[in-house]
Amino acid sequence: MSDPAPTGTEHKPDQLKDGGHAFDGIQEYDNNLPKWWLWLFYATIIWAIWYIPFYHGGPGKVGPDRLKEDLAALAAERASLNAGTALDEAGLRVLASDPARIAAGKQTYAQLCVACHGAEGLGGVGPNLRDRHWLVEPTMTGITTVLEKGGRPGKGMAPYANLGTEAVRNLAVYVVSMNREGLKANPAKPPAADEKETPIDW
Ligand code: HEC
Repeated sequence: MSDPAPTGTEHKPDQLKDGGHAFDGIQEYDNNLPKWWLWLFYATIIWAIWYIPFYHGGPGKVGPDRLKEDLAALAAERASLNAGTALDEAGLRVLASDPARIAAGKQTYAQLCVACHGAEGLGGVGPNLRDRHWLVEPTMTGITTVLEKGGRPGKGMAPYANLGTEAVRNLAVYVVSMNREGLKANPAKPPAADEKETPIDW
């Protein structure tokens, strides 16, 4: 009988080293492992010599410890962005999920904004702040701008720059957080024709 066609992966019989052990008609061979495989194996050993002491008992942090460290770094970054520093969109977005700012913004909102935008932000005299439709660009920059400069003339949205930069930022953070809590349409206040459908997607 002729041999099956070679596949390119099998050893030729004259390359096989006899391991000196046969059982039940099966011969055990003793061949060298491929070099690439061996080096990969040695590399994992070297890696483990570093990894195990570093992460188990050493300075490396995993799981909850790592999370704690990351949260502390985030808090430090937020603190460094505070106090009137000029911020671009990315900088403002770092603030946008800060619970302390959400709480502060909520308080100011309850005092100054509820009358026109509703306790839940569902709108009234002013537009619904919890739908997918916006007059301004629904970014941190767009929202802080309308708060600082006010809406279009004659529409009823006054400027609130006098509250100060941080209070305006907190209000914008709260508006975004409210919108993110869940979109709610308000049949009593449907989007105006000039509101564009540009949901907050960040
Ligand atoms: C006197 C009523 C009134 C008050 C008070 C008011 N707004 Fe408005 N707001 C409006 C109106 C009207 C508009 C639409 C402006 C326009 O058409 O240019 C608006 C627009 C906005 C927008 C843009 C909405 C969009 O769809 O793009 C935001 C955000 C906003 N207001 C937030 C606030 C916040 C926060 C406060 C409290 C500090 C506040 N407003 C207070 C009436 C009000």
